[in-house]
Amino acid sequence: MFKATAITLIPEAWPGPLGASILGRARAEGIWDLETVDLRQFGLGKHRKVDDTPAGGGAGLVLRPDVAAAAIDAVQSCNEMQQTETALKRPVIYLSPRGRRFDQQMARDWAAGPGVILFCGRFEGLDERAIEARDMQEVSLGDFVLAGGDVAAMAMLEAAIRLLPGVAGNSASITGESFENGLLEYPQYTLPREWEGHKTPEVLLSGDHRRIEEWRISRSKALTFERRPDLYAAYSETPTSNAPETGDEPD
Ligand SMILES: C[S@@+](CC[C@H](N)C(=O)[O-])C[C@H]1O[C@@H](n2cnc3c(N)ncnc32)[C@H](O)[C@@H]1O
Repeated sequence: MFKATAITLIPEAWPGPLGASILGRARAEGIWDLETVDLRQFGLGKHRKVDDTPAGGGAGLVLRPDVAAAAIDAVQSCNEMQQTETALKRPVIYLSPRGRRFDQQMARDWAAGPGVILFCGRFEGLDERAIEARDMQEVSLGDFVLAGGDVAAMAMLEAAIRLLPGVAGNSASITGESFENGLLEYPQYTLPREWEGHKTPEVLLSGDHRRIEEWRISRSKALTFERRPDLYAAYSETPTSNAPETGDEPD
């Protein structure tokens, strides 16, 4: 079973959207599990202090390394002992705008493993020594700054967990999606066939599966070329892409 542990200062925010719809059902069915650990429990003294002022001065507060490490150690010693059969150690992720950018490949890698331990930062972030000493991987949701790591952790978990076998109803709906073949997805249509004067493309109503597939691939390529030239360039370089020759790009 895929196991996610979130170490957080706002445990009340969890599971949030992960508790609803297909992910909520999959959790109830035992496909994945979530453990939420309140960082405050590991805080120091009567007030359970978890942070302090930045060394060298400056604004805000920094999460203490001893508190963070105590939480991570408790999670690892408690959980990983139970996983000795597989001897698989879950990576410890520090949600951080400085980290490697999360993407679909990372979601696939997570989904193929035993799960993740996610340390959700707050304030000015986490003391660097904890990141190094606990061999944490820094992962970012994108080039922007959130108030804390929880929303980023939930977004990443949702992307990974929906790839687990048995979570999404129809596995074909995952294989054809954006990023799965290096392209963005083609445009989707449903009923009614005509809406506010706009018609569903005729080819999609033709019943000719070969033509439909060709149309979808060509729209995928055109959209990717237009919106994400970086993705399109990478796609064109893959030997199996059937991308148009240079100078013959999609309209
Ligand atoms: C206000 S931010 C700290 C930002 C930090 N001082 C900096 O400039 O890089 C507080 C916490 O939010 C989380 N966070 C903020 N932006 C994020 C992002 N883009 N991806 C993942 N986590 C993020 C991190 O856990 C971070 O420790």
